[in-house]
Amino acid sequence: GLGISKLLSETGYVTLDPGFVNTASCASAVTYIDGDAGILRYRGYPIEELAEKSSFLEVAWLLIHGELPTPEQLASFDEQIRERTLLNEGFRSFFAGFPTSAHPMSVLSAGASALAAYHPDLLDPFDPAQVDEASVQLLAKLPTIAAYAHKSSLGEPLLYPDSSLGYVENFLRMTFGLPTGKYEVDPEVVKILDMLFILHADHEQNCSTSTVRLVGSSNASLFSSVSAGIGALWGPLHGGANQAVLEMLERIHNDGGDVKAFVNKVKNKEDGVKLMGFGHRVYRNYDPRAAVVKKATRKVLDTLGVKDPLLDLAMQLEEVALADDYFVQRKLYPNVDFYTGVIYKALGFPVNSFTALFALGRLPGWIAQWREMINDPATKIGRPRQVYTGSTERHYPAK
Ligand code: ACO
Repeated sequence: GLGISKLLSETGYVTLDPGFVNTASCASAVTYIDGDAGILRYRGYPIEELAEKSSFLEVAWLLIHGELPTPEQLASFDEQIRERTLLNEGFRSFFAGFPTSAHPMSVLSAGASALAAYHPDLLDPFDPAQVDEASVQLLAKLPTIAAYAHKSSLGEPLLYPDSSLGYVENFLRMTFGLPTGKYEVDPEVVKILDMLFILHADHEQNCSTSTVRLVGSSNASLFSSVSAGIGALWGPLHGGANQAVLEMLERIHNDGGDVKAFVNKVKNKEDGVKLMGFGHRVYRNYDPRAAVVKKATRKVLDTLGVKDPLLDLAMQLEEVALADDYFVQRKLYPNVDFYTGVIYKALGFPVNSFTALFALGRLPGWIAQWREMINDPATKIGRPRQVYTGSTERHYPAK
């Protein structure tokens, strides 16, 4: 515990653990993972049950407040979010300032940070009322920012949010709707995206969540912390893997679809090629989220009447990899990102907005973990030590 680390630092000892493979940075009661057994629970509830029975906003409340909401709490939470989806008009020039080629994760991270500029009265991490309001503001406004990042990249007009619509419906309409035509939101699509958001909602101390906590440990605002988390999530080893998987599948498809040749390339570590969407620091078994997504993918394509050869390619890749010693010995299984891209593509999202969808899903987890960190009396500013390997003292040459 903290006692031991204090004792060690006083004696001059430090532990060197690159990547924090075996170092816990905090105690947390939010999410439980048993990586060997492939178990994931939010506040004790198995992910499979939540994915099937719950809704994203209910899960967001659960993660943030620790218990499932009562119907009244959920209705009021939903209402508070609907009332706050509108961005300040000043954001128009914010979006206009980006090139149309801007990656949505860049715009999303900047947008989360800009919320701090529009809400200077919500920056005190130790004022619970401010933190509650900042949490709701983020949940309400991040989907609007993500949708506008998409619209701006197409040069299409930005649609105001519609507070008569539910969370996911509103996001889909702002993303795909046009002012000239009525956009009918397909309830099946809403259900699927809501479920995918639930699957992404928290995953204990992953890279982006640790970033959110670390930034917050300096008592920076929730907005700034989430903005940094979005930056961490963008990387292809983390949330950016969903984009990387689809690009990998497209590459294999365009090269003739030779799955075995690609797997051999991965095993020989040619050009540093990895099987994207495979492997996980904690899971040494099938990622339970991937199991849910895999089951949903076929159903989604059938429901939407979409035929995509990339799904067959992904399934072949999985089959070949799971029968191969390289992957068996290293306990490499598909992670949540392996199949999500095929669904996002079927829903009509462009490949470079996949990771922004991950960010929208992960937001409640970031908020819950940040709040737990701020309220934990054991929290100290995150400040790792190092083992210095540079030059010993030397002197600037005389001139
Ligand atoms: N393809 C091929 N080999 C792999 C893969 C992969 N996807 N993942 C791990 N390995 C190999 C490594 O090369 C290493 O082999 P070695 O011992 O011969 O050197 C061994 O498996 C152990 O891998 P590490 O890199 O030590 O595992 P680590 O826990 O550090 O990395 C990570 C985890 C980053 C997820 C890694 O598995 C990876 O890069 N996967 C691909 C990217 C990806 O899908 N990321 C999404 C993760 S889930 C998420 O963030 C939502």
